[in-house]
Amino acid sequence: MTDKTPKVSRRDILSIGAAAGLGAGLASLEPSPARAQTMPQTEVAKLADLAPGTALDFAYPDEDSPAILLAMGGPVEDGIGPNGNIVAFSTLCTHKGCPVGWQTDQQMLICPCHWSTFDPAKGGRMIIGQASQGLPQIVLKVEGDAVMATGVDGLIYGRQTNVL
Ligand code: FES
Repeated sequence: MTDKTPKVSRRDILSIGAAAGLGAGLASLEPSPARAQTMPQTEVAKLADLAPGTALDFAYPDEDSPAILLAMGGPVEDGIGPNGNIVAFSTLCTHKGCPVGWQTDQQMLICPCHWSTFDPAKGGRMIIGQASQGLPQIVLKVEGDAVMATGVDGLIYGRQTNVL
């Protein structure tokens, strides 16, 4: 099964609503609890250390939440940095929480439990497998010479909120 569910941001919803003349009604929408929480601003790596092909394990927003930062070979969806090639994702599979692994040869994050496969070049979207949604994406920004984690787009597996 292929996850073809597009990621729709609040901005997208507001744009659609405004076009349909529904802006006033949608203005009362509140951000989801996962997005509304204050998240830590954490340095993940130095830009200079992220040559294309680099994969770096880290934890965010806390030590119980494994994640991976990838410097892809070229620009990718939601990529940051001078080349738009740096992305990061929770590595807890959205199916049943197994740790997904980076497969360099396939350029995919693959779950060893039931083989759900997630594409980091496409926002962590699931391209095959048992999961019903993509991997939560760690929101990154460049600050000086550092790559900072600033939030999580999506709910980390097994949690009711991303901040415990
Ligand atoms: S836990 Fe990952 S596919 Fe089932």
